[in-house]
Amino acid sequence: MEQYAIKGGNPLVGEVEIGGAKNAALPILAAAIMTDETVLIENVPDVRDTNALLQAMESIGVIVERLDRHTVKINGSQIHAHVIEDDLIKKIRASYYLIGALLGKYKEAEVVLPGGCNIGSRPIDQHIKGWKALGTKVDIAHGLISAKAESLKGSHIYMDVVSVGATINVMMAAAMAEGQTIIENAAKEPHVVDLANFLNSMGANIKGAGTDVIRIKGVSKLHKTEYTIIPDQIEAGTFMFAAAVTKGDVTVKNVIPKHLESITAKLIEIGCEVEESDDAVRVVASKPLMHTHVKTLPYPGFPTDMQPQIAVALGLSQGTSIVTESIFENRFRYVDELTRMGANIKVEGNTAIINGVNKYTGASVNAPDLRAGAALVMAALAAEGFSVIEEIHYIQRGYEDFELKLQSLGAHIEKVESEREIQKFKLKVG
Ligand code: EPZ
Repeated sequence: MEQYAIKGGNPLVGEVEIGGAKNAALPILAAAIMTDETVLIENVPDVRDTNALLQAMESIGVIVERLDRHTVKINGSQIHAHVIEDDLIKKIRASYYLIGALLGKYKEAEVVLPGGCNIGSRPIDQHIKGWKALGTKVDIAHGLISAKAESLKGSHIYMDVVSVGATINVMMAAAMAEGQTIIENAAKEPHVVDLANFLNSMGANIKGAGTDVIRIKGVSKLHKTEYTIIPDQIEAGTFMFAAAVTKGDVTVKNVIPKHLESITAKLIEIGCEVEESDDAVRVVASKPLMHTHVKTLPYPGFPTDMQPQIAVALGLSQGTSIVTESIFENRFRYVDELTRMGANIKVEGNTAIINGVNKYTGASVNAPDLRAGAALVMAALAAEGFSVIEEIHYIQRGYEDFELKLQSLGAHIEKVESEREIQKFKLKVG
């Protein structure tokens, strides 16, 4: 299995281009099948999750043409099945976005129940609640969800919890329902807004995305479009916090600073200097990091997908910090691994009490999930000595060319596949 070999101690310095947002690309790629015309999508991140979803789409007859690494043409006119098979949903949970898309277009869909994952149970009751409100019959049997509707009729839906996935999945189905749908207590993430803008560019009528009330007037047909996906706020935030933990000076380019406000605010709070321009943000960490408190919240609060990354920084900050994870019930699995690198963190329920230490020391650690894996790489880059990160396939789900981008900022990191390659790396970097 591939691993990252890392020698820590180099401050990250320089500029890094941020790619398209994975969590916007997934619903947008799924929604592209809702027209029989051809859709061109640019700035698609070339990561495992988007590639797995495109594979799932091809399995039901969607024509996918990669024009280049980040540009894809989609045509959903030849779809021959509305069933998403088991192995594909296991590869990518977000295949369930195809239910909302297929339901909107064909009024039926069937997909294997997406399991839980490493950060929590990941229920989809709110997705089902929204589809049922639109007139869908939803059955769950033998691990399959099947959704069928004679016709979809607009409805007034109040989400019990703020859910990105449910807001997106209901928005897609409602976009082609008869009449008006109102989604209350909707998620406001940038990727929800990006999907609404994408659907509107195809002729949908969606207003209020980005607020907690989204109003959708259903249309009978959607048409072709050309669309560019927004930059990835979490990839950007990851590199910004990597600058903080390595006492570096990093500029993330091709970003939307507004999407990074809660991340920027925390970096300033812990003692970093942050300079914003139209499409770039520079983070300079020249002073010792200070402790703070942070609670993850739905957008515009501090993102749960940045929780492991800020915890790594707070682990090197002076004083005691508190991190509260209010979104997922099992998102501290990286703490045991970080402890092996010298961190002093105590987890009590959904709260981590972090006593800052002077340094981390290199160790062999396992990435438990996507964002925690990226956070452990950050810790290894700051640590004294060598580290090996196992299970990096999690990281490759959401970060394109992660090690190449870090190398361009001065990091000693390489993808390796054997003990021999680890030894070679150690000899090379000394
Ligand atoms: C999306 O997951 C993201 N994934 C996650 O990013 C992100 O952490 C999460 O939103 C929150 O921002 C994608 O976009 C592919 P939710 P999602 O529905 O939609 C509960 C990453 O690292 N809930 O907003 O599954 C749920 O248990 C990934 O890129 C219900 O109770 O998250 C959680 O506690 C990790 N019932 C809370 O809502 C439901 O029907 C928020 O989950 C749905 C969700």
